Amino acid sequence: MTLRVVQWTTGNIGRRSLHAVLSRDDLELVGVYAHGADKVGRDAAELCGWPEPTGVLATNDVAELLRAEPDACCYNPLWPDVDELVTLLEAGVNVCTSAAWITGGKQTERDRRRIQEACERGRSTIFGSGAHPGMTNLVGMVLTGACERVDSMVITESVDCSTYESAETQRAMGFGRDPDTAGLAESVRRESEVFAESAVLLAQAIGAVVDRVTFDVEFTAATGDSDLGFMTIPAGTVGGVMGHHRAWAGEQNVVSVGFNWIMGAHTVPPKPLQHGHVIQVFGLPNMRTVLHCLPPADWDEPGFMGLGMVYTAMPVTNAVPYVVAAPPGIVTLADLPPITGRVARPVSGRLRPTPAP
Ligand SMILES: NC(=O)c1ccc[n+]([C@@H]2O[C@H](COP(=O)([O-])OP(=O)(O)OC[C@H]3O[C@@H](n4cnc5c(N)ncnc54)[C@H](OP(=O)(O)O)[C@@H]3O)[C@@H](O)[C@H]2O)c1
Repeated sequence: MTLRVVQWTTGNIGRRSLHAVLSRDDLELVGVYAHGADKVGRDAAELCGWPEPTGVLATNDVAELLRAEPDACCYNPLWPDVDELVTLLEAGVNVCTSAAWITGGKQTERDRRRIQEACERGRSTIFGSGAHPGMTNLVGMVLTGACERVDSMVITESVDCSTYESAETQRAMGFGRDPDTAGLAESVRRESEVFAESAVLLAQAIGAVVDRVTFDVEFTAATGDSDLGFMTIPAGTVGGVMGHHRAWAGEQNVVSVGFNWIMGAHTVPPKPLQHGHVIQVFGLPNMRTVLHCLPPADWDEPGFMGLGMVYTAMPVTNAVPYVVAAPPGIVTLADLPPITGRVARPVSGRLRPTPAP
């Protein structure tokens, strides 16, 4: 069965998702939502580097997208919007998202209820994933399956994110700001709260009863200026952020999920970078792995950040058939069977960097 899919925005993650939708026989692109007015009316192929026109033009008219009767939407906006999610879900569109959603636990009670009710009305499902959180949670859960006893889990994204061109996201995480800014730790906690959702998901998956979630963060000031093109990190401003959201059961810190990020050439993080996702399970036995996302032989884009974007997009886009088949409501990584990719087709479009619109 071919599933009808709408791609919601075509930024760093969205255009990789769009490319993947076009490359799959079991998915049919029936619409593209554009936030930026400059993208409206452009062919999907142009927005994601697909070699031939698709005939599907980007629109900001949600009613038009719904008239195409999509089965699913790959929802990858910079900032998620509950009204948009409700509109999609109550129209019967299953939502797979990378946008700050793992369980919906950080939503207000009212917003979570609105989403659940929209799912009931539309008989639809919402699912969130990504690389981290997302794939890291799945691998962490799998590793615990090797343990007789789990004492704790720690998952840390340990990377230089200088080439992740999302200035708004980076500023929201504190980069380039005065480390002594009042309320900075709290604002980073809020902005990264999806990692708290992921910590609670993992803790519950291994049978812990979580009674609280805490957050700690350490800022490192850059010792020199860095111009990253899309933003600058002046000396003395935040060039490194290491933080963890921690799920507790009594005095036991059962799961910690967080990041050790630097940006620019002049920051020494509190812990050496591992250039990947470090997944550690402590128990009987201890288990540890580091996920590295590496270029295939035919990778021809400048730099490697594009690989990270594919890695983030695919756990969401590949989930479409599973989410369409799932019961209505909120489903998580702990509910779905393992989500696989697809074997390469003999002829497929090659993704080239999309020129700035
Ligand atoms: N779980 C993970 O591993 C992970 C990793 C990275 C990112 N993410 C999340 O994935 C989502 C997409 O990330 P990204 O790097 O692709 O973001 P991005 O490229 O910075 O932005 C995505 C798109 O959002 C739209 N947009 C821009 N400004 C907006 C605004 N002020 N309000 C609403 N929409 C706006 C634009 O749509 P048009 O293209 O239509 O103009 C843009 O292309 C984000 O929510 C991010 O937090 C998750």
